[in-house]
Amino acid sequence: MDIDVFTLFPGWFDWFRTQRHVANALALGHSVECVDLRATTPLSGGAVDDTPFGGGAGMVLRVDVMEAALRARYGRDPVELRAERRVIALTPGGRQLDDALAAELAAEPALTLLCGRYEGFDERIVEHFCTDAVSIGRYVLAGGELAAMVVMDTVLRKLPGALGHADSALEESFSPALEGAPEYPHYTRPAEWRGWTVPEVLLSGHHERIREWRREQSRRRAHE
Ligand code: ADE
Repeated sequence: MDIDVFTLFPGWFDWFRTQRHVANALALGHSVECVDLRATTPLSGGAVDDTPFGGGAGMVLRVDVMEAALRARYGRDPVELRAERRVIALTPGGRQLDDALAAELAAEPALTLLCGRYEGFDERIVEHFCTDAVSIGRYVLAGGELAAMVVMDTVLRKLPGALGHADSALEESFSPALEGAPEYPHYTRPAEWRGWTVPEVLLSGHHERIREWRREQSRRRAHE
């Protein structure tokens, strides 16, 4: 999978690239590349945003700035680009990211993530250049960069080989394997700590009973 992130802060992603599962994905041939919106801005002084029409606080990322960056990267009109790849605006009002959306995106060969800043995007960016608008939750971040990392984190860990253990991403919270329910509780050594014990069944070595117990715990958590 090739992921391009359009951002005003490409340096933020240096740390992200070094994280184990991301580094694993990169070593497998996937890519995470940043495109600096200031590098191609047609405005003088590296400007990328402007005050909102109609008044109001803050600044809005300009549509001409985003178009210039997309054209420079892909060599074509961004209106046509979205027929070929998912172009996603990170914005608090978008479709909420969940496991199903992460799985959907993990099946794509390429993603383009657009990070807004300040008050966000000129709406024409979302309307004409994007296939999706995605939110990581009903709260407002200072920009889309952390949201882009959250999206990439959950998508990349679903790619085969990104996690050390092949099954780790299959049976986890909200996955189809658990019928969309939260994951069951985990325990490890020591089997007793300050009198707090581990459920007996997990020490039994009885795989069928363990499976049943886990499903039951997962369903119970879903109800709670
Ligand atoms: N940009 C600012 N806040 C955001 C959020 N909650 N989700 C996605 N992008 C954002």
